[in-house]
Amino acid sequence: MSMMKNVVGWFDDRYPLTKVWNEHLAEYYAPKNFNTWYLMGSLALLVLVIQILTGVWLAMSYKPDAELAFGSVEYIMRDVEWGWLIRYLHSTGSSAFFVLIYLHMFRGLMYGSYRKPRELLWIIGVIIYLAMMATAFFGYLLPWGQMSFWGAQVIVNLFSAVPVIGPDLGVWVRGDYVISDATLNRFFALHFLLPFVLAALVFIHIIALHKVGSNNPDGVEIKKGPKGNRWSDSAPADGIPFHPYYSVKDIAGVAGFLFLFAAVVFFAPEMGGYFIEHPNFEPANPLKTPEHIAPVWYFTPFYAILRAVPSVAGSAFPGVVAMFASILVLFFLPWLDRSPVKSIRYKGSLTKILLWLFVIDFIVLGYLGTQPTTDLYTLMAQIGTIYYFAFFLLMPIYSKMDKTKPVPERVTE
Ligand code: HEM
Repeated sequence: MSMMKNVVGWFDDRYPLTKVWNEHLAEYYAPKNFNTWYLMGSLALLVLVIQILTGVWLAMSYKPDAELAFGSVEYIMRDVEWGWLIRYLHSTGSSAFFVLIYLHMFRGLMYGSYRKPRELLWIIGVIIYLAMMATAFFGYLLPWGQMSFWGAQVIVNLFSAVPVIGPDLGVWVRGDYVISDATLNRFFALHFLLPFVLAALVFIHIIALHKVGSNNPDGVEIKKGPKGNRWSDSAPADGIPFHPYYSVKDIAGVAGFLFLFAAVVFFAPEMGGYFIEHPNFEPANPLKTPEHIAPVWYFTPFYAILRAVPSVAGSAFPGVVAMFASILVLFFLPWLDRSPVKSIRYKGSLTKILLWLFVIDFIVLGYLGTQPTTDLYTLMAQIGTIYYFAFFLLMPIYSKMDKTKPVPERVTE
């Protein structure tokens, strides 16, 4: 014990080891009423680690070369020891990552976690989300299957729709006139780099969180309430030390998550074509366009918005603007919500109904984005797109006029 103390003391004299441990874990007081929604952040962190580890191991056998890429993935699947497992962990991991992040963001939406003083925390979150999308997009080209190739072709062509600079921009992004070896090489470089940028952003995200403290399902600021509990006289009365209380609770969440995750990895890694699309089992062929091109499920709500907006004078630019706007609108959320209360628990029925309709809308858009277009589906996507934007842009009005319930002084559980 005393040797341990000496070792820690040696570090403490040279590095704030105990200070950081206390500030961020043992003496970081989190609201005592966290529910299951509050597990998603740590699970997302776990999946980020899984992605980096499996990704680095995949890179040891993968070849970022248009002639060799597809074959090297098959080689990983068949000949590299445990290669199939590493690849399925990585491909399932990317879908799991987005499932968790969508739940994490929805939690924020429900409990008003983006409201003052957490605006910056939310904005960093949206930047993380953009970086995740870029990472996944670059990664999807790497197996060099039909959908990798044609999906990238469709999305990079969107850049060419930008007026004036579009065509040059497309060539600049691809490094060629079509998706080619040059594109594959740079996408591999960026796909390797971005997860580390993500890790740095997550670090900044947590620092921002610990500056303002966590919100909770009641949307009541525990820092503003009475002080003093059995651990400290100065800590918020409704706070409990993150460690051991939430570190242990998070481990239970990790066990539950790994059960589900392993079930998918071992029994349904393709998830019926939603996680790994069927055309991607065929090598990329620039001379053969697949009958139907659709991105992976986590992009499809935005893809549906892109296709819903009609072209103007043959240019898809308005759709491109709508697609990017549908993501960028999230940055403004902290200022769009004017409700006097934070959590959905104390908001009125109008806001509750609109929020649930938004969830349905997002899922329906996601489904439409996976399907070939028909007149009916295009009309549905147009209605869905209008609702998507109305939900955000009319928020200043409905959030202010909706009746709210009285908010308790302290958290209720
Ligand atoms: C790699 C992705 C991410 C990781 C690893 C991550 C991690 C975390 C962790 C560990 C927490 C604390 C535990 C929890 O509240 O669940 C947290 C809180 C939070 N995150 Fe994230 N996050 C990520 C992405 C995002 C995104 C995309 C957004 C929003 C656009 C976001 C917004 C928030 C907010 C608002 C909180 C505070 C919630 C509250 O106190 O009620 N995060 N995050």
